[in-house]
Amino acid sequence: MTGRVGVWLVGARGSVATSAVCGAAALRAGLAAPVGCVSELPDIARARLPSYAELVFGGHDVTGCPLDKRAEQLVEGGVLPRSVVTGVRADLRAAEAEIRPGYDGTDGASQRAVAAALAADLRDFAARHALARLVVVNVAATERRLDPHPATGSLDALESALDGAAAVLPPSALYAYAAFSAGFPFVDFTPSAAVGSPALAQLAAARRLPWAGNDGKTGETLIKSALAPVFADRALRVRSWAGTNLLGGGDGANLADPAAAAAKLASKSRVLSSVLGEQVVEPLHIDYVPDLGDWKTAWDHVSFEGFLGVRMSLQFTWQGCDSALAAPLVLDLARLVARAHEIGEVGPVGAFGFFFKDPAGTAEQRLAAQYEALRGWAARAGTLPEDPP
Ligand SMILES: NC(=O)c1ccc[n+]([C@@H]2O[C@H](COP(=O)([O-])OP(=O)(O)OC[C@H]3O[C@@H](n4cnc5c(N)ncnc54)[C@H](O)[C@@H]3O)[C@@H](O)[C@H]2O)c1
Repeated sequence: MTGRVGVWLVGARGSVATSAVCGAAALRAGLAAPVGCVSELPDIARARLPSYAELVFGGHDVTGCPLDKRAEQLVEGGVLPRSVVTGVRADLRAAEAEIRPGYDGTDGASQRAVAAALAADLRDFAARHALARLVVVNVAATERRLDPHPATGSLDALESALDGAAAVLPPSALYAYAAFSAGFPFVDFTPSAAVGSPALAQLAAARRLPWAGNDGKTGETLIKSALAPVFADRALRVRSWAGTNLLGGGDGANLADPAAAAAKLASKSRVLSSVLGEQVVEPLHIDYVPDLGDWKTAWDHVSFEGFLGVRMSLQFTWQGCDSALAAPLVLDLARLVARAHEIGEVGPVGAFGFFFKDPAGTAEQRLAAQYEALRGWAARAGTLPEDPP
């Protein structure tokens, strides 16, 4: 890949974003090994991806807490090593200088004017850093689940609705609209609405842009998508699959709101019916436990049936550090989507479904099959020229 690549983080001062900026700088400086970085596996790196040294960070946020202070909080919480944060302080300051005020739906201006201002921030960043590509990645707090507004059904309807006084798009979708309008690809790492309407997908297609989503797969759903095929392929009958999730941190606090949790639970519950081919009793809970900080615990209980109806069970407990799991994937996706853009991919890149709970562009939910699709994509991308014909 040629040239520098901008990574524009929506939610740039959150835990995942701060960890991604620190992690990229640490990798560039040789302060850390690329553990957890899928794009560094030889099968995937062959796609001719931009290096970590070629990534330049900026973003939008609605909070004022600067990145170095956020990084300090993550050090206190045991998420980031102090030595890494000390070693990358200049990189944190450089990224902080590129963070612009975001939009949370409370602006009095028309959404057309807000989108134009967001798009201008992106274009300005790309021009000042002479970027060859720019990828916008949504890592902002999960929004409350909304029914799609009728005006978002088609691009024409959306375009005329944006001029009105009423807000027709939730902030995540307005960020996607701004990215596509400015000619940049978009990744939705959250379960928010973002590109979830036909109008936004039409806009991406019209601008010949790739996009990827939705909702990064880093814990319980990752393990589910690896384990569920075991039952399907051994012809065992899953009777129920119950999951309890305990979350701290900003994400946990946000998901204490039932309407935000509804969006997350919806994206978490797509795997089983798809892999097992039938509806399974699947109670799922998310509880906020502030004491856990950035750590999450998922406990799953699977009740299943074997030959002649014999009942058995599987249980697993996953204890993960949310941002340490998510940040390398954000970097993977930025590198992969930049390359997808360079080779002329358009629309949702199904081969990137490996990274998501609710993958766009593919119905495949089995983890091993998703990895094969990603591997195949990387092999093909590795043979293509820098500029598509
Ligand atoms: N950590 C994981 O393993 C994981 C996995 C999948 C998805 N996610 C998603 O990633 C997102 C970020 O997680 P986090 O732990 O960093 O959360 P966080 O609460 O630490 O950070 C969220 C950031 O988004 C900002 N924000 C809120 N509304 C915004 C808006 N309208 N515009 C711009 N910025 C806005 C907040 O100010 C905050 O800085 C969440 O939506 C979460 O569900 C995380």
